[in-house]
Amino acid sequence: MPIQWSEQYEVGDTRTDRQHQNLFEYVNRIERLIEQGQSGKLDRREVEDVFVFLDAYVNTHFAYEELCMALRGCKMAQKNKEAHNKFLQLWANFNQEHKPESVSVAALEGLHALLADWLTQHICKIDTALRNTA
Ligand SMILES: [Fe+2]
Repeated sequence: MPIQWSEQYEVGDTRTDRQHQNLFEYVNRIERLIEQGQSGKLDRREVEDVFVFLDAYVNTHFAYEELCMALRGCKMAQKNKEAHNKFLQLWANFNQEHKPESVSVAALEGLHALLADWLTQHICKIDTALRNTA
């Protein structure tokens, strides 16, 4: 079932919210790719799109959000940076093991679970600390 962005994910910074919404969209795209893969019709070009997006996302979005927190003196800034670094490592490992042209449906399911967990846990518990700094 697709996951929906809602107000509970708002962090009090419009640009960050937009970036998070974009990630929701891509998580849902991965879900559609899994369904395609299960019926044997996986569009590998779209898988590549997702990989390219995630690669850019982890670099630009994380850096932007960390800067926001630092500039606003957010109490979660350090925790956020640590969590981002952990995620960067997970993504680097995934990238090393899986390529868009050959990634399995099971691996995409693992990636989907990782990202869905990230959205609900990380954004709600850490990123939303930005709300109280504006
Ligand atoms: Fe974050």
